[in-house]
Amino acid sequence: MVLLREIKPEDGRLLDEFLSSLSPRTIRFFTYYPLPKDYGEKFSKRQDIVCYVADLNGKIVGYAWWEPTYASQPTLAICVQDDYQGNGIGKRLLGRLINEAKLRGKKGLQLTVSKDNVIAISLYLRFGFKIVSEFEDSRGTNYLMELRF
Ligand SMILES: CC(C)(COP(=O)(O)OP(=O)(O)OC[C@H]1O[C@@H](n2cnc3c(N)ncnc32)[C@H](O)[C@@H]1OP(=O)(O)O)[C@@H](O)C(=O)NCCC(=O)NCCS
Repeated sequence: MVLLREIKPEDGRLLDEFLSSLSPRTIRFFTYYPLPKDYGEKFSKRQDIVCYVADLNGKIVGYAWWEPTYASQPTLAICVQDDYQGNGIGKRLLGRLINEAKLRGKKGLQLTVSKDNVIAISLYLRFGFKIVSEFEDSRGTNYLMELRF
């Protein structure tokens, strides 16, 4: 069973294994730049994020976070491993992060998504995010989306 739990400082190796298992398509949607080799080690120790991982028998199959913790409307990011996509993990992670943002008195959350990432956009719309602007970068057109509480 997939459990959601907060990330721990010792999750670095598990997170790096998760990231190295992602398909080029998932990587392209998830991030703009090649991730450094020690990304997981550093990320798992960050104090300025609220992050949950989806843990399947000690293996990370998804993670999502918002940052920075002090912002009134932090920025959210999410990724689920290819083999586990479409099973409700993204919805669970997003729901947890939204709840946590509300509990901490945030005024909302924001994110950036590629215009052609229809699955992610439908997930965000389902949770009430709205498209507030559109911008171009090297990968094409992106939406800035916002959820106000
Ligand atoms: C976007 C992502 C996080 C969604 O996580 P997930 O676990 O696959 O999504 P879920 O199974 O929780 O589904 C959530 C909703 O997404 C949509 N969705 C999921 N899979 C879909 C598919 N194959 N086709 C169309 N819509 C789909 C549906 O609206 C679904 O809700 P529903 O099942 O009630 O209809 C995941 O697919 C992912 O990591 N993608 C690659 C990285 C990425 O795009 N990150 C976001 C960058 S902004």
